Amino acid sequence: MIITFGTQKGGTGKTTLAIAFANYISGISERKVNVFDFDFQKSFYYKWKEDEQSELPKLYDVEIIDDENKQPFSDFEHLIEMKESEDINIFDLAGTLDARYSDLLIYSDFILIPFEYSNVSAKSTLVFINFLGLLESQAERIFIRSKYDKGYKYQNQEGMDAEISKYGVILKSPVFKRNCLQTIDTRKLSYEQKYAVKNAFAELVDYINYALEINI
Ligand SMILES: Nc1ncnc2c1ncn2[C@@H]1O[C@H](COP(=O)(O)OP(=O)(O)O)[C@@H](O)[C@H]1O
Ligand SMILES: [Mg+2]
Repeated sequence: MIITFGTQKGGTGKTTLAIAFANYISGISERKVNVFDFDFQKSFYYKWKEDEQSELPKLYDVEIIDDENKQPFSDFEHLIEMKESEDINIFDLAGTLDARYSDLLIYSDFILIPFEYSNVSAKSTLVFINFLGLLESQAERIFIRSKYDKGYKYQNQEGMDAEISKYGVILKSPVFKRNCLQTIDTRKLSYEQKYAVKNAFAELVDYINYALEINI
């Protein structure tokens, strides 16, 4: 299967959530996890490289996809193979709409879209939804409230939820704004980090199992 973290905005938590999810799913699933960093900034990949010094065991490999290394997209069949594979293939994208993402966005099983309740994020989220529509992507869109501040009353929450839920599901549990997530690494989730993401990810895994009729 292919699970892609994307949206049309930087800084919304794609990479943090992709790392957290890759760690989380490695801990609960027997399936092989493969990560592909498709962002020119390569934050996931560099973090994973840095973590080679860690004493903790490696949980998965991270490959970069850039102009020199167009795998796994050099041939289309490879993408379909990844989709049909039992492996959990996780992609982390940049916050830009790019034609080179088109095939991936069309053939992903799930596109995880972190968003915040700011006017800027609302606009970018709608632009991204529109882009997926133009591509006629069949992927399930799953929206995650990211960096959510528990004590704050977001003025536009109701309106934005109503609008984006026309295009996919919004996970009920948000991922709260937590300092501990700023020091995430690719080898483990600390107790605190796990606590910050576990409700949202449990919901996400339930949804994946339900949609694909599997049990990861
Ligand atoms: N839930 C969160 N709580 C606190 N800080 C977060 C959270 N998610 C992301 N961040 C921080 O926000 C910044 C941008 O996150 P990042 O995951 O790199 O976003 P993106 O990949 O979408 O550009 C980073 O400094 C990261 O540590
Ligand atoms: Mg990123």
